[in-house]
Amino acid sequence: MRAHEAGWAHAAVSVRGPAWLRDPADVNALVPQLWSRTARKVDGVLEVGGVRLPDLVAEHGSPAYVLDEADFRSRARDFHDGFAGFDVYYAGKAFLCTEVARWIEQEGLHLDVCTAGELAVAERAGFPMDRVELHGNNKSVGELRRALELGVGRVVVDSFHEITRLAALAAETGLTARVMVRVTPGVEAHTHEYIATAHEDQKFGFSISSGDAMEAVRLIRDTDGLELRGLHCHIGSQIFDTSGFEVATRRVLALHRRIAEETGVQLPELDLGGGFGIAYTTQDDPADPARLAAEIRTIVTEECAARGLEVPRLSVEPGRAIVGPSMCTVYEVGTVKAVELDGGAVRTYVSVDGGMSDNIRTALYDADYSCTLASRSSDAPVLLSRVVGKHCEAGDIVVKDEFLPGDLAPGDLVAVPGTGAYCRSMASNYNHAPRPAVVAVRDGASRVVVRRETLDDLLLTDVG
Ligand code: LLP
Repeated sequence: MRAHEAGWAHAAVSVRGPAWLRDPADVNALVPQLWSRTARKVDGVLEVGGVRLPDLVAEHGSPAYVLDEADFRSRARDFHDGFAGFDVYYAGKAFLCTEVARWIEQEGLHLDVCTAGELAVAERAGFPMDRVELHGNNKSVGELRRALELGVGRVVVDSFHEITRLAALAAETGLTARVMVRVTPGVEAHTHEYIATAHEDQKFGFSISSGDAMEAVRLIRDTDGLELRGLHCHIGSQIFDTSGFEVATRRVLALHRRIAEETGVQLPELDLGGGFGIAYTTQDDPADPARLAAEIRTIVTEECAARGLEVPRLSVEPGRAIVGPSMCTVYEVGTVKAVELDGGAVRTYVSVDGGMSDNIRTALYDADYSCTLASRSSDAPVLLSRVVGKHCEAGDIVVKDEFLPGDLAPGDLVAVPGTGAYCRSMASNYNHAPRPAVVAVRDGASRVVVRRETLDDLLLTDVG
């Protein structure tokens, strides 16, 4: 379907939106790789897990995060099976609730938590604590104590202060902490690039090049109550290939080798972190977990062989790549207006009933998303549109650029795919907006797994 005369045909290049944005062949069709695996359009109506989104909104309200259980479980399994022989830690910071922790447990994954809050969810879900790992660059004494008492499997230590705190707690309680040392290998991968050396300048981990990492290892080895299991590194987010992992692995294994030489004992484990990318728009082309695993395994095996090391037990920590594509957010359209741009081009502003409080990623990272009309089909010509929220800020944008039917009107539903990771978990109450529900769908049934906040919830904390 082509734009109508008053749309881009009329005007300057800007009306085409960014270069990557494709003129949709059929605006009513889904781009399958952006959606959860059970999502489909039936007579123009979006259905996820066999539940029609207009029915879901009628029952649970909007906006709502729609969590496709079958999709989530299948992606968890893809990592579990693809990374066979690894420990796969689901990074709860991407999204965590009790039900999701149960799914993770049932699918055989481990769980990465980074606060007492995430740990409390794991505990409530009955998650086996020996499969939990605690992260964080500034864990409180309370968080460390709770982790020790619950018997979490690994504590990833991040600073000299933390080593001191953990040692004191171990002495006080008589418990042993199994620890990994988080190192900064001087590699940061972001999107398609990695940049060597520059990224020691950050808050996480012990620098390898300064000698801090080696010093931390010595200190932990000399401390009663701390059992050193291995090294950990995490190189960044939205990574699509393994080149960054290759550089990081080489540097971390060089340290591994030095430790083995100095102590005569090889560390049994190596954790390479998370960061595997997903498709937010047609620009992104993620690799499948089995291929990533095969490449990482090859890199580690070759590097170990070259250094005369045994291959350690490997682990990874995917968050986004499991939950990201499993959720979409459904919004109701409230207002539509056309804005004339330079050169006579027109952009349609579609205001929805949520925004930066339920998805801060567009405003914070300039992230790209896509969306579709979810409640009906349309034959109207497409228009370059911008989906914006209801907050008091011009930067309150959900989807910067998308072609949507020109007859979009109040009451229509719009759904944004790929909102499972870092949307609900980074949601806020900006402008006193209650945070939306997370509704799980499966086999034609929907159920709330995180309930929508109410105004009473918000007023409850306001004790003045
Ligand atoms: N492991 C560690 C140590 C991490 O710091 C992270 C993410 C992960 C694993 C999981 O990364 P994932 O596989 O989900 O990319 N709020 C940002 C992302 C921050 C990532 C923080 N650490 C966003 O919305 O893109």
